[in-house]
Amino acid sequence: MIFAKKDHLIGLDIGSRTIKLGEVLEKGGRRTLDKFGMANLPQATIVEGRIKEPQVVADTIRGLVKDLKVKSHNVATSISGYSVIIKKIVVGRMSDEELHDSIQYEAEQYIPFDVADVNIDFHILGDHEANPNQMNVMLVAAKKEVVDEYVDFLEMADLNPCVIDVDVFALEKVFEESYLLEENSVALVDVGANKLNVNIIKNNISAFTRDVAIGGEEITREIAAHLDCSFEEAEEVKLGSAADKMPQEDLQEIVLSFVSNWCSEIRRVVDFFYSTHANENIQQILLSGGASQTPGFLEHLATETSIDVETFDPFRGLDIDENDHDTNYLKRIAPQAAICMGLASRRVDDK
Ligand SMILES: Nc1ncnc2c1ncn2[C@@H]1O[C@H](COP(=O)(O)OP(=O)(O)OP(=O)(O)O)[C@@H](O)[C@H]1O
Ligand SMILES: [Mg+2]
Repeated sequence: MIFAKKDHLIGLDIGSRTIKLGEVLEKGGRRTLDKFGMANLPQATIVEGRIKEPQVVADTIRGLVKDLKVKSHNVATSISGYSVIIKKIVVGRMSDEELHDSIQYEAEQYIPFDVADVNIDFHILGDHEANPNQMNVMLVAAKKEVVDEYVDFLEMADLNPCVIDVDVFALEKVFEESYLLEENSVALVDVGANKLNVNIIKNNISAFTRDVAIGGEEITREIAAHLDCSFEEAEEVKLGSAADKMPQEDLQEIVLSFVSNWCSEIRRVVDFFYSTHANENIQQILLSGGASQTPGFLEHLATETSIDVETFDPFRGLDIDENDHDTNYLKRIAPQAAICMGLASRRVDDK
């Protein structure tokens, strides 16, 4: 196993509430979970995807690296939200190399920033449905300022950033690794503390993505306002460890109002997808992210969208040694680990 670590990366999901770190190794030809851990950040250390308190976040990451006895420093992490633009574009048929040379020019027409200010990446999806002389391409443009900020930050945290991914694609990656690929469309929905990511996969390719700035922290903030207490106390009330501080009916009312709003947002995204992809049928919604475990959310979403909704398990298909890991804990937090496990599946030479 000496060379097994050669090209693998540590997955590091820098969430605005919870940092997750995961590592997957090939052992005897099988993908095996080697490390997984999470640590919470104080509120407002990361706001709208920008790291406001680099020292606090770096210390939290160093703590995780130490606790989990992580040896490698090569990491894959991801960004999302306002700093990333993902667009499906149509260009004349050409090779990957040719597109590489002309992508700056092609991208100029589609992105609202100066191309000099963004890092551009692309993925050829296949021939255009109506015109064989053209092809569909997924264009990804990330603000250089933000990418550079993450790279500098990770170096400061004594890590070596090898891949800077995008949340929705990390989600797609873990789906590919852990679920049987089918022709049917599946919507991957991750609800974190401050953002909701959607990636609709059709014929095993991402057909549509959307980020919305909503999430679990909305509920916590509302509880804090209602009880006039600190954010951390409100988080405890929300997660049930200080249930006596608030009547259950009041808590349920707050939870329901936000859950209804999340469901309406997801419904809007699904409706938009249907309006642009006639005859498509989303077979299933797979829910991930910590806030996806909010009581009643899954059932509410199934009713709102009339689609089968299931909880995403990113550990599916991995060998997990019960002597090394608390499998009950992993089962409980599985959906929260999704993006991290997608990142942990990246390789150094991945795009
Ligand atoms: N069992 C649970 N029930 C309800 N909410 C939960 C539960 N577990 C975690 N959460 C909530 O999920 C959120 C954290 O989830 P997650 O780790 O996916 O977010 P994040 O990645 O830190 O945030 P983001 O991706 O939005 O920046 C918090 O708001 C937390 O209160
Ligand atoms: Mg997250």
